[in-house]
Amino acid sequence: MLIAVDGPAAAGKGTLSRRLAEHFNLARLDTGLIYRTVAKKVLETKDPENNKIAIEIAQFLSLNDLDTNGLRDEAIGTAASKISAIPEVRKTLLNFQRNFAKNPPNGKVGAVLDGRDIGTVVCPKAEFKLFITASSKIRAERRFKELQDRGKEAIRSAILRDIIDRDERDSIRSVSPLLPARDAQILDTSKLDPDAVFNLALNFISLKI
Ligand code: CDP
Repeated sequence: MLIAVDGPAAAGKGTLSRRLAEHFNLARLDTGLIYRTVAKKVLETKDPENNKIAIEIAQFLSLNDLDTNGLRDEAIGTAASKISAIPEVRKTLLNFQRNFAKNPPNGKVGAVLDGRDIGTVVCPKAEFKLFITASSKIRAERRFKELQDRGKEAIRSAILRDIIDRDERDSIRSVSPLLPARDAQILDTSKLDPDAVFNLALNFISLKI
């Protein structure tokens, strides 16, 4: 069983994917974490603008590197969005993601992958594709609360600006732009709580099983 969950920043992909993975006993890969991990490592080098370094870091990435600590900040999200537009970085990370989908770890019989291009490029043959979205204002509000809950300082207007910029960068890039697959079920979560989103996703999946 393969579930693809795509959508823009802070739309609720993570929450939904975690719940789907738990419900169906599947492995989960947050592909944003992969780009964030590469971005963090690139930022730690002396030459963060050098694409060659980003490509090299992507080539040597392993599952054990995907540590969530310190990766959720907007600055890392922005850096991830920049390095994820480098075609060779995407190409390298494509194999990593496909391998996970094909051979889910811990003996699981399937996987949930969430990101921007799972249904369109990484797993175009996934049986279940969801595209989760919400208005940019609502997404900014959710990210604001998430940062507050983690005790981080946050400025609403700056978060909204970051989200709008990131959406634009993710949507206009030439490789794998953010786009719903033609056979994806689109869920606008602007007025829905996590339970309602989960139930809608379950309905969609059970209709196809
Ligand atoms: O959690 P949030 O939705 O804010 O971001 P994320 O999913 O962690 O992704 C961070 C950045 O990585 C995005 O803005 C994208 O530019 C990039 N990304 C991508 O290009 N392709 C993916 N499959 C996942 C993330």
